[in-house]
Amino acid sequence: MSAIDPLRHARIARKVRGMPASDGAGVKLTRVIGSGELPDLDPFLLLDEFGTDKPEDYLAGFPEHPHRGFETVTYMLDGRMRHRDNHGNEGLLVPGSVQWMTAGRGLVHSEMPEQEAGRMRGFQLWVNLPAKDKMTDPRYQEFPPEQLPVVHPAEGVTVKLIAGEVDGVRGPISQPATDPVYLDIALAPGAAWTHALPEGHNAFAYAFEGALSLGEGEDARPLAAQEMAVLGGGDVLALKAGDAGARLIVVAGRPLGEPVARHGPFVMNTRQEIMQAFVDFQEGRF
Ligand code: CO
Repeated sequence: MSAIDPLRHARIARKVRGMPASDGAGVKLTRVIGSGELPDLDPFLLLDEFGTDKPEDYLAGFPEHPHRGFETVTYMLDGRMRHRDNHGNEGLLVPGSVQWMTAGRGLVHSEMPEQEAGRMRGFQLWVNLPAKDKMTDPRYQEFPPEQLPVVHPAEGVTVKLIAGEVDGVRGPISQPATDPVYLDIALAPGAAWTHALPEGHNAFAYAFEGALSLGEGEDARPLAAQEMAVLGGGDVLALKAGDAGARLIVVAGRPLGEPVARHGPFVMNTRQEIMQAFVDFQEGRF
C-alpha cells in the first residue's frame, strides 16, 4: 500500500466513445469531442477520427468552407490530402504530417483527398483561441513527418512529438495561448511509460490501436482502441500496454476559461460576434 502519492498521477475521469458522423461533402468519420456526449474540453472544441479503406467514405472530401476564431489541427496517419485557401496558401498533407492552422479572423479553404484508392486515416482537432487572438492573421504551422522529432523515453516506447516536450526534446508547434501538448505514442506489448503533463492543463488520451491501462496502482483502468479518456486528478500520466501493444494520442492544453459561442465553423465569445462572422463571410471579408 502506498501512503501519499507524491506524483499526483492522472486517472481516467471519464471515458468517451466517438459517435459516427459525417462532415464536409459526406466524409464518414467518428466524432469524439464536439458532439452531445462531450461538447468540448476547454480549450478543445472538436476531435474527429477519420479512418477507412473505402474510397466512397472519403472521396467527396471537404470542399470550400470558412473558419473563424480558432485553430484546426490535421494529423495524417495514412493517405494524402491537398489543402487550398483563399489567401493563396496550398499544400499536400502526406502520411505522418501535421498542419496546425490558425484560422484567426477568417479564411475559406478546402481539404480534398489526393488519392482515389487506399486507406485514409488521421485526426482533426479544433483548438480554441482566447478573445485577444480570435481576430489575428491566419497562420499555418505545417510539418512533414521528417520534421517531427521521435524519442524513445523507455524500452518499447516511441513518442512522436507534434507539440510539447519529452526528455528535453520539443515538438515544432508553438502556441503560447494554450501551450498545447500533442503526442503520438506507440507502446510495444507490455511496455510502460510515465510522463508529466503541464500542471493545470486539460488533457485526454485517445487509443487508436490495441489496448492499454492508464493510471497508477489501484487507479489504473483499461483503455481500448476507439476509446477516449478524459484525464483528471493529477498531471502524471502512467501508461502500460496490453499484450498486443497500443497506439494512442495524448493531447493537453491550458484551459481558456472564456465563454464559447459557436456555430458551425465559427467559434467566438458572444452571439453577436457569431452574427458578425456570418456577415463578414457573406460580404467576402474572409
Ligand atoms: Co476546415
